[in-house]
Amino acid sequence: MIDKNAFRKKMKEKLQATPKAFYEHYSYQIAQKLYQDTFWKSAQTIGITISNPPEVDTYQIIRKAWELKKTIVIPKCLPKEKQMDFRILERFDQLESVYYSLLEPIEEQTKRVDPNMIDLLIVPGLAFTEDGYRLGVGGGYYDRFLQNYHGKTLSLAFHVQMVKQLPTEPHDLPVERIITNEGSFFTS
Ligand SMILES: Nc1ncnc2c1ncn2[C@@H]1O[C@H](COP(=O)(O)OP(=O)(O)OP(=O)(O)O)[C@@H](O)[C@H]1O
Ligand SMILES: [Mg+2]
Repeated sequence: MIDKNAFRKKMKEKLQATPKAFYEHYSYQIAQKLYQDTFWKSAQTIGITISNPPEVDTYQIIRKAWELKKTIVIPKCLPKEKQMDFRILERFDQLESVYYSLLEPIEEQTKRVDPNMIDLLIVPGLAFTEDGYRLGVGGGYYDRFLQNYHGKTLSLAFHVQMVKQLPTEPHDLPVERIITNEGSFFTS
């Protein structure tokens, strides 16, 4: 089986070839499916990342959550420990660009939440299998976080991100549920 980095490169190229109009349409379809989902409906505090195209757009999801008075928490990477903290985001101007184009919550303006407070974690990834295994961007941040996280997990993916098989290692942890522009399913 080909290695993770080769797989990442291939998937990024595939996703980058998606025309903007389709990217917007599929992201909208995924968001609409999410809003009907019981994981979403029953979650008060939701962990989510700030998307960077070609990842599924999360800005519209964050705005919707705010409208519904849900609490949105966003990861702040702690590169020394290779851990993440989740902090409450109330406005997009509480974000700053730390690494490249990655946006993170500004520490002075946002409050950290305990992982136990997160009801639903929307876990990012480049590719997924039907049993919930995930290829992330390669930091291992989510794999580490998921080890001690006990809330619900869900991933959002374009249909092309669903693959038959992925290179996995013992530390890779699956997500419980996946929503794509074509459907939603439990992974086990
Ligand atoms: N629970 C863990 N404990 C220690 N090291 C870990 C753990 N999880 C992952 N790692 C390390 O992190 C590195 C990246 O892992 P991997 O390739 O699975 O990243 P990824 O799943 O793409 O990233 P992410 O989880 O942030 O989406 C690997 O070197 C792996 O050994
Ligand atoms: Mg992994």
